Amino acid sequence: MRLTCNLQAALACILTLGSAVAAAAPKTMFLFKDVLQSNTTALTTSGFNTLLIFRIGLTDAGDLVYYSTGDAGEAVDAHVVSNGTYTGGSALSDKIRSFKTSPSSLVDRVEVSLVSQDTTFQIIRDLVASEGTGSNSTLYRNFQALQTAWDFDALNNDDEGVYDTTSTVAFAQMLGGLGLKYTIAPYTNQAFWADAVSRLNTETQLLDHVYLQVYDGGAGNDPASWKSALGGMKIAPVEWVVNDAKPYEGTSPAAARDEFAKWFAEGSIEGAGYWNDYDVEKMGSSYTEYGGVLTEVFG
Ligand SMILES: *[C@@H]1O[C@H](CO)[C@@H](O)[C@H](O)[C@H]1NC(C)=O
Ligand SMILES: *[C@@H]1O[C@H](CO)[C@@H](O)[C@H](O)[C@H]1NC(C)=O
Ligand SMILES: *[C@@H]1O[C@H](CO)[C@@H](O)[C@H](O)[C@H]1NC(C)=O
Repeated sequence: MRLTCNLQAALACILTLGSAVAAAAPKTMFLFKDVLQSNTTALTTSGFNTLLIFRIGLTDAGDLVYYSTGDAGEAVDAHVVSNGTYTGGSALSDKIRSFKTSPSSLVDRVEVSLVSQDTTFQIIRDLVASEGTGSNSTLYRNFQALQTAWDFDALNNDDEGVYDTTSTVAFAQMLGGLGLKYTIAPYTNQAFWADAVSRLNTETQLLDHVYLQVYDGGAGNDPASWKSALGGMKIAPVEWVVNDAKPYEGTSPAAARDEFAKWFAEGSIEGAGYWNDYDVEKMGSSYTEYGGVLTEVFG
């Protein structure tokens, strides 16, 4: 672990020096913009170590689709897995693999995010019920095909409405069997997430990071309260960058630094990050400044 401290984080730094083998602080950016159109160089060299591809959805048949947003705000849909076979093409898989492998990249973890504005979590619930999660199941074969093509490290659950414990646990354990980690991006429903954490982390730390939304619907979230509800798991809060969709929700690098440093000093967070790269580029904001806040506070 790093032994360098800075003023803002001095207290927390002194406290963490005691715990020997701390995992690297997650320094995250959610990739809302089409990865083939966003600024890969800036995303991989500005201080972020974790990039979350937002988002993968499931069709009724369980095929996987990569939904994103292009430079002009247009929807970009790419069918990426069909019946156990990767169909997304090599331009996309090469781009995603390059996040970790390009020569000066600071990124060592890529996650794929699933969100419940689609019918994704209903479909997962129904497929778990009808087929289970064995190695011949649609879910297993399709996520294995995507993982083989993209070489991602974790799946991020951003369920905001279905909250079905049985399928959530079965699906996460299936992904664990594929060698993946599991993370969550809650904004509400602490009881559901606390239950999921306790069920998934009894033997191994399968669910290893909590990217708590502290903007928009989650604006009132207090990391210390979530840490306590989730059995002491430290939180990595997510702030929304400056944007023109909901300008009052936008957080400047300076404001993010003050907030993250305060929570880090009180011991409730392990890292932090942002929603989202599309807005950074649209507003002409600086990846270096947003990423720099994370390295300043968390090392
Ligand atoms: C990507 O970001 C870098 C700054 O990190 C900038 O120098 C470069 O011009 C950007 N590229 C594009 C295509 O916008
Ligand atoms: C899906 O793949 C399996 C195994 O490769 C094959 O047996 C089956 O016919 C395929 N189903 C469809 C609808 O293509
Ligand atoms: C897996 O599914 C295929 C058809 O998709 C079937 O032929 C095969 O028997 C199944 N194997 C197992 C172990 O269930």
